[in-house]
Amino acid sequence: MDLEMIKEKAWQSMGKRQSHPDREPGYVFYHGQRVAQIALTLREMIFPDQTGDDDLIRVGGWFHDVGKGIEPHWEYGALICRKILQDLCPPERLEGIVQIVGSHTLRKTKEYPYYVKLVQDADILDHFGSQEIWLNFWHSAYRHQTVEDALAFYDKSYREHIQRVRGLLNYPESVIFFDEKDRFVTDFVERLSAEARGKLIGR
Ligand SMILES: [Fe+2]
Repeated sequence: MDLEMIKEKAWQSMGKRQSHPDREPGYVFYHGQRVAQIALTLREMIFPDQTGDDDLIRVGGWFHDVGKGIEPHWEYGALICRKILQDLCPPERLEGIVQIVGSHTLRKTKEYPYYVKLVQDADILDHFGSQEIWLNFWHSAYRHQTVEDALAFYDKSYREHIQRVRGLLNYPESVIFFDEKDRFVTDFVERLSAEARGKLIGR
């Protein structure tokens, strides 16, 4: 597969598109790039000898959200990426990529091949840690909300949300990274809460 050409197609279809008003233009392109990287890192850790599907995982990660904004985005995304990639990928690779795109949200509903499960976990992981804070700032700014509103979200909904999503991860290795990201956000929010009340840290 010509990865340079395929990445160019990913850029053309997602690089400047704004899937939601509370996310920056191009979010799905950059998110897709990160998800591919995370999925490949997990693959190296969990299946160190299984290198044969790396390009499939990479391209599946790049395109997994290509349908975002047209719901159900995984179903439309599968159709869109099949059309974009049909002349750029061998047929059996294309089927794997379409399978990743078409089932990345349908976690734990049936048994999937490891390359789908890796992208499913990577997709979750890229929404947490510093990315969670970035997304939350965009969400709050778009709605003209205050720091107090954001703190109310972390106080009331964040913990419940984290518990639900954590249960959807496929691999214990992913859970370890997820918990680390959660600790980072929890510490940040504690500081945000203190500084929002005018507290000087260290005194
Ligand atoms: Fe995603």
